[in-house]
Amino acid sequence: MPSQNRRFFVTTALPYANGNFHIGHIMEYIQADIWVRLRRLQGHEVHFVGADDAHGAPIMIAAEKAGITPQEFVANIAAGRAQYLDGFNVRFDNWSSTDSPENHELAQQIYRDLKANGLISSKTIEQFFDPEKSMFLPDRFIKGECPKCGAKDQYGDSCESCGAVYAPTELKNPYSALSGATPVLRTSEHYFFKLSDPRCIEFLENWTSESGRLQPEVLNKIKEWFAKDEEGNGGLGDWDISRDAPYFGIEIPDLPEGSPRKYFYVWLDAPIGYLASLKNYLGKIGVDYERYIADPAVEQVHFIGKDITYFHTLFWPAMLHFSGRKTPSQVNVHGFITVNGGEKMSKSRGTGIDPLKYLKLGMNPEWLRYYLAAKLNSRNEDVDFNPDDFAARVNSDLVGKYINIASRAAGFLSKRFGGQLAAVSPDGETLLDHLQTAVGSIVELYAEREYGKAIREVMALADRVNEYVDANKPWELAKKEGMEARLQDVCSTCVEAFRVLTALLKPVLPALAANVEAFLQCAPLDFDNATRVLGAGHVIGSYQHLMQRVDIKLLEALFEPPAAPEPEKLIPGGEEIAPIISIDDFSKIDLRIARIENCEPVEGSTKLLRLTLDVGEGRMRNVFSGIASMYQPEDLIGKLTVMVANLAPRKMKFGVSEGMVLAASHADEKAQPGIHVLQPWPGAQPGMRIH
Ligand code: 2FM
Ligand code: ZN
Repeated sequence: MPSQNRRFFVTTALPYANGNFHIGHIMEYIQADIWVRLRRLQGHEVHFVGADDAHGAPIMIAAEKAGITPQEFVANIAAGRAQYLDGFNVRFDNWSSTDSPENHELAQQIYRDLKANGLISSKTIEQFFDPEKSMFLPDRFIKGECPKCGAKDQYGDSCESCGAVYAPTELKNPYSALSGATPVLRTSEHYFFKLSDPRCIEFLENWTSESGRLQPEVLNKIKEWFAKDEEGNGGLGDWDISRDAPYFGIEIPDLPEGSPRKYFYVWLDAPIGYLASLKNYLGKIGVDYERYIADPAVEQVHFIGKDITYFHTLFWPAMLHFSGRKTPSQVNVHGFITVNGGEKMSKSRGTGIDPLKYLKLGMNPEWLRYYLAAKLNSRNEDVDFNPDDFAARVNSDLVGKYINIASRAAGFLSKRFGGQLAAVSPDGETLLDHLQTAVGSIVELYAEREYGKAIREVMALADRVNEYVDANKPWELAKKEGMEARLQDVCSTCVEAFRVLTALLKPVLPALAANVEAFLQCAPLDFDNATRVLGAGHVIGSYQHLMQRVDIKLLEALFEPPAAPEPEKLIPGGEEIAPIISIDDFSKIDLRIARIENCEPVEGSTKLLRLTLDVGEGRMRNVFSGIASMYQPEDLIGKLTVMVANLAPRKMKFGVSEGMVLAASHADEKAQPGIHVLQPWPGAQPGMRIH
């Protein structure tokens, strides 16, 4: 047991719920999972939680495209998480969603606390609006050149090239990623977190430089963000935390009477999701959340990638501090994973190794855990996955050096001594002493996230053990008369040494360690019992092969490009048939025969026609329809058509549209242009319902 028990609350960045995990996510989870397991093996208490980052316009838009609600969309993504996490032995205590009731409540509460503290302001801002899509454009759907470094095709919120965070209106040569149109500026009332408030700046300058919180290279980057130029420009700016409808997010509470609904920007409620998932988990295990989270003894540790440093080292601690909450103890930033020295694998362009393919090929997840551990350090440097290096490290080091120790010694013990260990003679004891003494410093390396160094040290210890084996040659002792006792002594030393090495690898190789514990018939290993031998008389089980070598063919298969796509499936009209609905769903849509009483062009629009429709209600309806490219207004007057009569009226630039006329078009407008209004067979009358 450690001299002092510590309490950790550990998180990894919450992945957007708009796609499956890629290898970059898996690397982060493995890095954090190793650390969590290490801390537990030291005897410390750890709560390790994750969640899906459910909100934001991209998810809303993706759900709309898929024809389902955003809630259904994120639930589908969430259902696919376990196979990755279980597959790579990543054990979160809880996996929640930022759309949970806990997060809605916490985000609104934190906002209210910040407001009460005078750190929320509002102002009318000009924002990009897509004139073709008729909506304010989310940051991620505006692209252009980074205002700081000039990199092309950067998103509207931050630059993947230089890490700068900015407002989308600062982008040079912006364009809408939804339609390609040049966005226009429109005004809207927005809410801001006053990061430029002197209180915030003072707090953050102190907080970020407190020792142990951030890596030195991260702190250097942050200092650039604090810096102002000679004209006083730059430095920390206020942060726009509100978004207009339509938006999938948490509603901003307490808005002035008559204000349209507003939502928190996804990045406001995303990190709050850490607390919400913790709260959800503590609820399940019967621990009081408020007490736990306010406890100064609890250390809050975040693992994140370098692209989201700004959010986690500036916004997040400031939000917590100025809402009267405890701030993170440590934000650990890692680099990206690259493949073969190649292009970095970013969140949005998850290429390279497909983690599910890795598992489906039957590759051992602990090979990857070992390889990544061997390459990770405490800095935010990128990690390169190199297939030859991967095979070499697993085959020569992990199997060749470590596993080999057990396979060389265990057979003799089972066959000749009923699996019984003997007392170890002084030379063996010296070796075991050496291993046991190294435990403390290697554990310390892991705790500092110097996994690569820790693994190197473990392998150096394995080398020592192998030298001992080579010097004593159990296979020769086995053949010599009268050397029985020495054979048992040497093999016992090897098994005891193997056990210490296993404890040291257990955070990285938990499944393997469990198999070793079963084979050695010993208590679950930790860093305390690993420093004591099993001792003479202990009986071990029979040795079963513990780990295969990597077959290079598997790696070739892993990197093989996916098979050529099947000959194109016939998709009617260019898009898949929408998911099945019930007759009740269908009957919600009130379709009616309408007579086009009048039709005229719309001034200022090349797409729309204004239709005056009679659906037998004793009044006329005004409907805008995007069919101007196909019909002359006079061709439509007097014709019958079909309209959705119970669609919510929609306010458009040119007036209110009170329904929708049905028309057919191909999904790929460019490949197959044209839009075709529906016309009923003779006999139908205005107002008749379509069943
Ligand atoms: O960059 C991302 O993938 C974000 N979804 C990370 C959010 S981390 C936390 F704030 F929730
Ligand atoms: Zn840039």
